[in-house]
Amino acid sequence: MNKILTELEARRNVARMGGGQSRIDAQHAKGKLTARERIDLLLDDDSFEEFDMFKAHRCVDFGMDEQQYPGDGVVTGWGTINGRMIYVYSQDFTVFGGSLSETHAEKICKIMDMAMQNGAPVIGLNDSGGARIQEGVASLGGYAEVFQRNVMASGVVPQISVIMGPCAGGAVYSPAMTDFIFMVKDSSYMFVTGPDVVKTVTNEIVTAEELGGASTHTKKSSVADGAFENDVVALTEVRRLIDFLPLNNRQKPPVRPFFDDPSRVELSLDTLIPENPNQPYDMKELILKIADESDFYEIQEDFAKNILTGFIRMEGSTVGVVANQPTVLAGCLDIDASRKAARFVRFCDAFEIPILTLVDVPGFLPGTSQEFGGVIKHGAKLLFAYGEATVPKVTVITRKAYGGAYDVMSSKHLRGDFNYAWPTAEIAVMGAKGATEIIHRADLNNPEKIAQHTADYEKRFANPFIAAEKGFIDEVIMPGSTRRRVCRAFASLRGKSLKNPWKKHDNIPL
Ligand code: HXC
Repeated sequence: MNKILTELEARRNVARMGGGQSRIDAQHAKGKLTARERIDLLLDDDSFEEFDMFKAHRCVDFGMDEQQYPGDGVVTGWGTINGRMIYVYSQDFTVFGGSLSETHAEKICKIMDMAMQNGAPVIGLNDSGGARIQEGVASLGGYAEVFQRNVMASGVVPQISVIMGPCAGGAVYSPAMTDFIFMVKDSSYMFVTGPDVVKTVTNEIVTAEELGGASTHTKKSSVADGAFENDVVALTEVRRLIDFLPLNNRQKPPVRPFFDDPSRVELSLDTLIPENPNQPYDMKELILKIADESDFYEIQEDFAKNILTGFIRMEGSTVGVVANQPTVLAGCLDIDASRKAARFVRFCDAFEIPILTLVDVPGFLPGTSQEFGGVIKHGAKLLFAYGEATVPKVTVITRKAYGGAYDVMSSKHLRGDFNYAWPTAEIAVMGAKGATEIIHRADLNNPEKIAQHTADYEKRFANPFIAAEKGFIDEVIMPGSTRRRVCRAFASLRGKSLKNPWKKHDNIPL
């Protein structure tokens, strides 16, 4: 008996060593942790239960039968984050560069199937050279099995991808279908084809960092939702994100103890809006002042900064926030902002997370680049996302809500539950100057008359009261009382039940 126990431990030790000490040292030398070290940091202490530690690949070509590493380059299993269950896979770059074989894929599929059955999120720690080249089409089949499961799990359990090394080829498409992608600065890359192939095909000379580093994907492509300094920070931040999310689409988001009075009045908000309507102010200040303990988990912080998206808690419950940011492009909506916010709204709606929308929007960004880029279709994504969302929706208009952008930003007409406005709100078809120049074109050469018309227009329309008279605004509220009003609004909506008509699925303008 003792001999068998010793053999088990010996086999386990071999599996724990992955591709061997020298490759582990090389991984550490790059500032990267090993697959197992990452799981240890991600999960609660001693909570990890591993599956398939001894699973072996079946490839015999290219001398592969001589090269066996128990576990086949991926560590899989389940554990807890602050006591809540999650499934995890962590690719081991020390074994064939974390590349995906048929059996490696089977391991990932097993935990994805279990996550679906048991209703728990899947977190993938990706560090992979893509398809295992020696296996050819068997590896491609393995990828497709994972992709199909990503699709089926979408909207059922949260799926989070952390890119922690060079991820090429198939290794980027599974993350691309998950809810959030995070990267590690300077040590992670994502590309469909690497710099060498790019040079051969297009003659472009580009570094891996330029082509697919964290900066590229968080600032330019928007493929990634955030980037962190190193493995440790990335894994800590994923733990923080999981705390905001429900485990599956049948559960409400978690409610945590809170230490912040829901009735807290913030008098400083009464002076947040500058006297000059063209002067910006930082919308983040409002978010931080109304959130429980000023805790804001921002998503896509470095992309389309004219709109803010992220999670806060109010009375301990998760709320998704979408807010125009007047400090960037005056907070207007453009292609990037619409796509960013639409995806966020749909995530919240899929997982029963109520949405708070803070509005200060002068309209859609005009121009040929926007029109040629299809702002009509992209803007419609946000409109569509708000229109189909059935979760509790509370909207606060702080200043401008002009034109189509007024409609889009969770207006009453898109089934907003509580639509509040500050007294400083201006809800109109467009700004006073633009409106005057159209209506009073004949007076364009008379600055005095134009100034008078503009002042008249402002007096009549640059306020929340006409919209309030029509019932489009439920109440004009004091800025300082926003936290209290919004907390009460969401509290009153906890039993909300709204269903869209049955359909196979919608046809959102992709
Ligand atoms: C098998 C691989 C591998 C792969 C790396 N290795 N990628 N083994 N299949 N795809 C092995 C290497 O042979 C090496 O083994 C070890 O992993 C580390 O690789 P290095 O090249 O030494 O590391 P590094 O210099 O850091 O470069 C990492 C890398 C590079 C950028 C990922 O290895 C690379 O470009 N790999 C190939 C990427 C690729 O073209 N993948 C196929 C994509 S096609 P030893 O024994 O020396 O430790 C694809 C199709 C799916 O994925 C499409 C689905 C839609």
